[in-house]
Amino acid sequence: SEEELHERIQQAKATLGEKLVILGHFYQRDEVVQHADYVGDSFQLAKAALNHPNAEAIVFCGVHFMAETADMLSQPDQSVVLPNLAAGCSMADMANIDQVEDAWEQLMEIYGEEPDAEGKAPLIPVTYMNSSAAIKAFCGRNGGIVCTSSNATTVLKWAFERGQRVIFFPDQHLGRNTAKAMGISLDEMPLWRPQLPLGGNTEETLEDAKVLLWNGFCSVHKRFTVKQIDQAREQFPDVRVIVHPECSMEVVDAADEAGSTDYIRKAVEAAPAGSTIAIGTEINLVQRLAAEYPQHNIFCLDDVVCPCSTMYRIHPGYLAWVLEGLVDGEVRNQISVDASVSEPARVALERMLAATP
Ligand code: 13P
Ligand code: SF4
Repeated sequence: SEEELHERIQQAKATLGEKLVILGHFYQRDEVVQHADYVGDSFQLAKAALNHPNAEAIVFCGVHFMAETADMLSQPDQSVVLPNLAAGCSMADMANIDQVEDAWEQLMEIYGEEPDAEGKAPLIPVTYMNSSAAIKAFCGRNGGIVCTSSNATTVLKWAFERGQRVIFFPDQHLGRNTAKAMGISLDEMPLWRPQLPLGGNTEETLEDAKVLLWNGFCSVHKRFTVKQIDQAREQFPDVRVIVHPECSMEVVDAADEAGSTDYIRKAVEAAPAGSTIAIGTEINLVQRLAAEYPQHNIFCLDDVVCPCSTMYRIHPGYLAWVLEGLVDGEVRNQISVDASVSEPARVALERMLAATP
């Protein structure tokens, strides 16, 4: 039962003490979040993995790319555990390393490899945290960097200080929303469809490009629509609409604000009592905020419940199972990135950490 699982988790945690740190993403279900030592957005959790060098094990309640990142940022003698190995991310899977390398080769033929008169590289690869370690390693090897939804603007500025153009993996929406807010026009942001030669573009379009957008998206955030925002405004004329930047440009434009999961949490915290707030992000976070801030009227833009199905795969039963393994000295479901990948990937992650105040 749920209570038994709760007991087992608490007991294993008590036995492991300081040897263990549990990290939980905001999208995790409450039955899991309540056991986490740190709850945060993907940037905060990457930093938490870096900042606990004394724990023997980091149990990551989130998805695969987050656990990989934690492994790459933590100490070599620490083990990172993902309670359910099937907790992936469909967006991260949309950029595969062979396709990325193929795209790069085609683009180098057009742009050349030499820097311009100001010393700027022809193209800088930028990857959203929501990508495999192999893509992060690709960015590390090619002068590029990682970003999260909380520092995408800072990171794109970093890239434009060093390069004439950017290719952004894998989320077209975060890339487009961020570049647009920086004043880059839509015709300078061609979409790269990896199945097509030149990503489905002409050479001229690519020559004029500032930000090439990889054709990925989040299936959870894709569900939010302008119509839902219009309906919320009709029903509650004073509603404040806050969405995650993984939503489409039309949705971000129609909303009052867009920001990372931690941005959304802080906005709710700072809102005057009695605010009506419609949120466009994963349902577990929205429901938790609604419960934590009963002084507001908080609801999800999509009334058909929209969980991230892979985040949801971290069931408390798996958490109990990996923790009891650790008590017995057995590391179950360890995530360990090979040094040939983690070393260059770490370069791209460290550039992000250095660029982000
Ligand atoms: P953040 O935690 O950076 O807001 O990202 C949301 C997300 O989709 C994680 O997969
Ligand atoms: Fe991936 Fe979207 Fe789930 Fe985030 S919410 S883990 S981007 S599928």
